[in-house]
Amino acid sequence: MFTLTGLSCSRSVTSFAPIVTSFTKQPRASRSFSLYAEAIANGETESSTVTPQKKKVRTRRILSGVQPTGNLHLGNYLGAIKQWVEFQNTGKFSSAQDLDGKSYEEKDKDDGDVEVVNENFFCVVDMHAITVPQDPDELEESTLTSAALYIAAGIDPTKSKIFVQSHVSCHAELAWLLNCVTPMNWLERMIQFKDKSKKAGTESVGVGLFTYPVLMAADILLYQADRVPVGEDQRQHLELARDIVRRFNDQYCKGNPYKKRCKKAGLPTYPVFTEPEAMIVKAGGARVMSLTDGKSKMSKSDPAEASRINVLDPPDVIRDKIKRCKTDSLPGVEWDNPERPESTNLLNIYAAVQPGRSREDILEEVKDMAWGEFKPLLAEALIAHLEPIQKRYAEVRADGEYLRMVLREGAEAAEEIAERTLRATKVAMGFSVPK
Ligand code: TYM
Repeated sequence: MFTLTGLSCSRSVTSFAPIVTSFTKQPRASRSFSLYAEAIANGETESSTVTPQKKKVRTRRILSGVQPTGNLHLGNYLGAIKQWVEFQNTGKFSSAQDLDGKSYEEKDKDDGDVEVVNENFFCVVDMHAITVPQDPDELEESTLTSAALYIAAGIDPTKSKIFVQSHVSCHAELAWLLNCVTPMNWLERMIQFKDKSKKAGTESVGVGLFTYPVLMAADILLYQADRVPVGEDQRQHLELARDIVRRFNDQYCKGNPYKKRCKKAGLPTYPVFTEPEAMIVKAGGARVMSLTDGKSKMSKSDPAEASRINVLDPPDVIRDKIKRCKTDSLPGVEWDNPERPESTNLLNIYAAVQPGRSREDILEEVKDMAWGEFKPLLAEALIAHLEPIQKRYAEVRADGEYLRMVLREGAEAAEEIAERTLRATKVAMGFSVPK
């Protein structure tokens, strides 16, 4: 029987094998929200004794996702998936910052005497993909491809849950509830909507593209996620999710009527949602730029295939794309010269695929090189880094039964949490909910 990451197909992957790390003391507000998550996760009610402050071990939830549109590219991999793997394996993000630019290395120094059990959820966000037209014949295939790539890149289903967004219907339902609490003008400010609708014309884009950030907030809030590792381009979406939390908790989770509704439903009376923190990776991965224009982001929606390296590109394609990628006519290769965005981008990529090497070491090696000398070096480093991922991908993809089992178990674990949050949300809003 085919086995993968030491796991037999016939075995369940349900239980978390979490990394226990030290817990960062949170500000009072978000700490009390986490208590809520913990209380409902433990099935506690208002009348049960909830004294998590005294506990030595706390749960911290991590959630992130990638859209399964087309092929995942180097930006998705370096900006997101590679970071998830690092976090899953070490409990740390070596170079991530929060929305205020504070490093997690710094934030996590303040250990306190509490330990943390990380619960990681990684989602393939197929319902986000349909905010722009998708070929129905391709959507399922690219969803499975993305999930297989998560595993191939190192997401281990015994340590992290992998699931498909549309398999947990609570996402759509919470998104609707949150749509009704989110002011229009908050969404009108969203840069991604402005950009995409300008390109396509508002008469041809769906309403889903407009409310997409609310669906993303629902993805995060359903799981009471404490931390959300993403690339720099998701900053505004994370800010919005935090604003929605504050608005909802303020509007619906205060006062005696709220407490009464909670008690009647057997729920604790904490505000419903946890305020998520963004983890934005720095040092090269936060913004991987296009190969044809060092000033724009590498993106799936760029019609020029040569603008991106896909994680599954064969070696010859990678060589060719790097050979043809945009450079400049200045001598040498250097970092952080605003006049030379392509040079910075290519060096960032070169460094990111050689995580064992320091910036100084890399610069020493390449600084005097001509592009013709540096480009083959970069191409071979990329190929060497991606080759084992591509090999594992082929194995995972060939075992459909295993992949479906991972996704089924991921969805079951996700649904259990999502349903509790959705119920609490409905109680807060005054819906009649079954006991
Ligand atoms: P998506 O699918 O566009 O991208 C997935 C992840 O990849 C990162 N990324 C990049 N990082 C660096 N350089 C780039 N050129 C680059 N391109 C993409 C993104 O920052 C992201 O982390 N809305 C999200 C998906 C989403 C989500 C969520 C994420 C939906 N729900 C909940 C986190 C939590 C998106 O479209 O990402």
